[in-house]
Amino acid sequence: MKMMKLETESFADYQEEMDSYKESVAECHKSLHDAAFPMTGWVGLPLHFDEAQRKELISAGETIRRKYSALVVVGIGGSYLGTRACYDILRREDAGIKLFFAGWNLSGSYHARLLKELDQYNTAVCVVSKSGTTMETTLAFDLLRSYLQERYGEEYKDRVYVVTDATGGTLRREADEKGYHSFALDPDIGGRYSVLTAVGLLPLAAAGIDIDAVLAGAKQAYEDFLSPDPDRNDCYRYAVFRNVMFDKGKSIEFFSFSQPEMTCFGFWLRQLFAESEGKNGKGLYPAVLNYSTDLHSVGQFLEEGHPVFFETMLIPGTYGRDFAVKGHEKTYNEYISAASEAVYRVRNAKKTPVIRLTLASLNAETVGYMIYFFEKACAMNCLLMGVNPFDQPGVEAYKKEMRALLGIE
Ligand code: PA5
Repeated sequence: MKMMKLETESFADYQEEMDSYKESVAECHKSLHDAAFPMTGWVGLPLHFDEAQRKELISAGETIRRKYSALVVVGIGGSYLGTRACYDILRREDAGIKLFFAGWNLSGSYHARLLKELDQYNTAVCVVSKSGTTMETTLAFDLLRSYLQERYGEEYKDRVYVVTDATGGTLRREADEKGYHSFALDPDIGGRYSVLTAVGLLPLAAAGIDIDAVLAGAKQAYEDFLSPDPDRNDCYRYAVFRNVMFDKGKSIEFFSFSQPEMTCFGFWLRQLFAESEGKNGKGLYPAVLNYSTDLHSVGQFLEEGHPVFFETMLIPGTYGRDFAVKGHEKTYNEYISAASEAVYRVRNAKKTPVIRLTLASLNAETVGYMIYFFEKACAMNCLLMGVNPFDQPGVEAYKKEMRALLGIE
């Protein structure tokens, strides 16, 4: 079986509209693959991943795991969500190290609680920021640097891992001055497209996750979604369908999940699409549904409310532990399958557009596969919509305003 199967009856209802995008898809495909504009470094990455860097990441990951029992990953947005998404799905209880996350919020209570918890661990820090100047990340790193200094003295420097730009930003300057372990980011890959670089791969390797399998999955996706023809390329068919949905007046795409460990993958998708597409008054709002709980709340709206949305279901296939409760014939995974099938049927019966993306199994390879699938679909989708997939002027505007309010240069 393919790593991921796309099923839908909804495409047939919009075939004519979808066909009208064929030429534009071929043009956008060419510009993506020919690097016709900046920030497309992620497109060929799975195919040409630098061997020396791969080895360096694996070796740094092993060192961190051998020496420490906690790694705090400090970062926000594209420097946080992808790592957290993969970790939540792939974390190993036997890894001997636990990842914690800081800097993704500005809560004093959260960070105070975190420091207290870290006292029980032998702790290292991995700070991730492409710009090296992000306020939330800087604040959390300043906190954790002081914490490490107080606990470990000068030896703290060996416990700091930095992932940032090769030359620019205050974080790079500090890393070079203090001699922290550091990894340089490709300037041609933006935050939300960077999970398959050191941004995600270093902390994931440290957590004992098989990053070679993640990269192999991404490489397979690169090969499977290489045709410029949407009829032969599910990734582009999905991108075209999203555009048709927007043209038809839909304003929300619900991504639904049935394994709680996939919730953060939903948040990563939400960032990828919202930050890439939400420009010039355009874009579908990407929302996350957690089944079964949301079937008992939002389910009412989905069935009988304002039909402003379509749904993309992510079905994990085999994952984690599966067993039957005493007195029940079916296992938990069989219940999930039945619930997913039931949702798919009722959406179709109502003519609510619905897509089902089913994985053979949810594992390191298929996670890499999904990441690449969605990154490429998102970029294609934006180009077809006429927006730049790789900038985020709205996010920058808030950062600037906040600095002015706090009187920080
Ligand atoms: O996708 C993006 O570019 C943003 O979400 C950034 O990742 C986020 O703002 C954090 O930026 P940085 O990595 O520079 O700290």
